[in-house]
Amino acid sequence: MKILSLNVILLIACASSEKVRFDNYSLYKIFPQNEQQVSVLQDLYNKETQYDFWNHPTMSAEYVNVLSSPLDRSRLESFLNKTDIKFFITIANVQEIIDRQTVANYTRNNIRSMSWNRYYNLDNINAWLEDLKDAYPNIVTLITGGQSYEGRAIKGIKLSHGSGRRAIFIEGGIHSREWISPATVCYIINELLTSDDRETKAAATDFDWYIFPVVNPDGYVWSHEVDRMWRKNRRPFGSEFGVDLNRNWNSNWLVAGSTSNPASNNFAGLGPFSEPESRSLSAYLRTIGDQIDLYLSFHSHGHLLLLPFGNTTEPLANYWDAINIGKRAMGALSVRYGTNYATGNIAEAIYLATGGSIDWVKEHLNVPLVYCYELRDDGTYGFLLPEEQILPNNEEVMDSLLELIHQAKRFGYMSNAPHLKASLMTLVALILAFVF
Ligand SMILES: *[C@@H]1O[C@H](CO)[C@@H](O)[C@H](O)[C@H]1NC(C)=O
Ligand SMILES: *[C@@H]1O[C@H](CO)[C@@H](O)[C@H](O)[C@H]1NC(C)=O
Ligand SMILES: *[C@@H]1O[C@H](CO)[C@@H](O)[C@H](O)[C@H]1NC(C)=O
Ligand SMILES: *[C@@H]1O[C@H](CO)[C@@H](O)[C@H](O)[C@H]1NC(C)=O
Ligand SMILES: [Zn+2]
Repeated sequence: MKILSLNVILLIACASSEKVRFDNYSLYKIFPQNEQQVSVLQDLYNKETQYDFWNHPTMSAEYVNVLSSPLDRSRLESFLNKTDIKFFITIANVQEIIDRQTVANYTRNNIRSMSWNRYYNLDNINAWLEDLKDAYPNIVTLITGGQSYEGRAIKGIKLSHGSGRRAIFIEGGIHSREWISPATVCYIINELLTSDDRETKAAATDFDWYIFPVVNPDGYVWSHEVDRMWRKNRRPFGSEFGVDLNRNWNSNWLVAGSTSNPASNNFAGLGPFSEPESRSLSAYLRTIGDQIDLYLSFHSHGHLLLLPFGNTTEPLANYWDAINIGKRAMGALSVRYGTNYATGNIAEAIYLATGGSIDWVKEHLNVPLVYCYELRDDGTYGFLLPEEQILPNNEEVMDSLLELIHQAKRFGYMSNAPHLKASLMTLVALILAFVF
């Protein structure tokens, strides 16, 4: 009896850590042409949970990405054929693309060995952050934004060139399968520390930067070790796992675009802030909330810049300024490689969806400028963005970030660092002393 139960335990242990494979799973890019086709797809989304919708069918969405198992493919295709909805297959065998992505190893104590055409796992990212602290002891501090269900620390860094500065807050990796998000956030850190570009250096020194590449560490580890398509955290609910951490924040919780079904990828959790990740990170944010001028959350995919709110398409708060600033920044983003991002609030640009971090930050911390990037691409590879696109993606995002700051200053939302103001005051004092 004892031996049997041990076997059972071993079996479960093995089964739970075995890599999920996606052999002959196909990624569809589907093009609904009218409201009726959108509603037909919404029906499919709501009723047939075997399909993994990578974005939501709405009138504003040009396309919908759906991942299908080989068993469900012909059902999906005949349904699309019957309803006369156009589609094509962008990836015939998803496993092949997963196999092609080799996760790199960061070499300890060699911060320059981090490469920008590879993805990294959590240990590597955290090791690099620690090495940055050793390489830049006067600028970099390691910070902990909270902790995960499985007890991992949400690790980040603060970059500061002195006290009294306003802050910029960056959060990545809340949806674990969106690997380009931590890759982008790490690149921003690297630019702020190593770039020779005048504007980048000014941005680095003018503000305090609070940066967390992976705020869903359990999910990110799971997406590397077991299931590449994992989105949520890893809290168990019976035989199901995980809460969508970007539906769990205490802002219009469970009002729209989320469910109370633990099997769903949009499961909002048992209550607002039921999850340690969102609860602890929000508590951390409260401690510095009044210093933050700009808050950025990084997701993929879709070439979008989103702003609050997700509960209504109405232009709330400083919507028009935020749109204006955002559109100019996306103009700058498009210059380098011609990538076109659309800008809008969550509800108008994607769909009604609540309980996300940016809405909570706007509503409860009153941060002036709050945005969410939906990074590359536009539905060809989706979450499986090829490694050769990491660097171009990061470069264009960096261009846009500098323009965001520039425009935010123009619109009076941000100012230069206190040391500049201080030296200006000294100059004024000197002139006054001279005159009188
Ligand atoms: C995938 O499809 C190919 C071609 O139809 C087939 O030869 C192969 O056995 C399939 N692989 C798996 C793991 O089902
Ligand atoms: C759907 O239509 C496409 C294009 O006409 C065709 O290649 C495919 O075999 C059809 N699939 C099914 C299941 O009817
Ligand atoms: C990274 O290191 C692990 C463990 O040492 C090894 O199994 C893996 O092959 C390495 N990956 C690469 C891309 O070098
Ligand atoms: C949407 O949410 C915001 C923030 O909670 C609130 O101020 C606003 O009244 C809500 N609008 C609607 C239509 O529910
Ligand atoms: Zn996301």
